[in-house]
Amino acid sequence: MEISIIAAKAENNVIGKDNQLIWHLPADLKFFKGKTSGHHIIMGRKTFESIGKALPNRTTVIITRNKDYHAPEGCLVCNSLDEALKIAKKNGETQAFITGGSEIYKLGLDVAHKLYITEVKAVFEGDTYFPEIDKSKWIETDCFSYQPDEKNKYAYDFVEYSRR
Ligand SMILES: NC(=O)c1ccc[n+]([C@@H]2O[C@H](COP(=O)([O-])OP(=O)(O)OC[C@H]3O[C@@H](n4cnc5c(N)ncnc54)[C@H](OP(=O)(O)O)[C@@H]3O)[C@@H](O)[C@H]2O)c1
Repeated sequence: MEISIIAAKAENNVIGKDNQLIWHLPADLKFFKGKTSGHHIIMGRKTFESIGKALPNRTTVIITRNKDYHAPEGCLVCNSLDEALKIAKKNGETQAFITGGSEIYKLGLDVAHKLYITEVKAVFEGDTYFPEIDKSKWIETDCFSYQPDEKNKYAYDFVEYSRR
């Protein structure tokens, strides 16, 4: 099973503020949907609560230390990233996505094979950050750049990294 991290970060690595996403970039939402549809998406409890529901056509796996956490119908709950990955594998998953937030990305960087990073070409004030991507461990394998348009206010790059 391939393990991928998928994230959108600003130039200053900000990914969120007040448990919410900051920017509205429909092209990135479409990219996220396209990549993750049909797959397991693994996220921290705070990210799950900020989305507030299971996303359609995906299996949502929520990581929490709370043994009694009750998630809505259709979501799976576990107590570690390792357990989440085991669940995905047991379900026959071929590509599991680690979808944040900051705490779970930090854990995910140790086990992921690939990173799909949307780099939003702006600086934002926030309170949660994507960890530094260590270029001695990760190599950029693809980069697609887009300019702002009527729907997407900021320029952005879809960047792919593989573990060296
Ligand atoms: N831009 C993006 O691509 C993107 C993507 C996702 C999220 N975000 C943003 O990121 C922010 C949320 O990130 P966050 O770092 O605050 O929270 P998070 O990573 O989503 O969730 C943190 C929670 O995960 C659980 N957890 C963490 N480590 C664990 C471990 N080792 N074992 C078991 N459970 C563990 C804990 O849940 P309990 O407290 O229940 O024990 C912890 O409180 C929001 O602003 C969100 O909008 C941005």
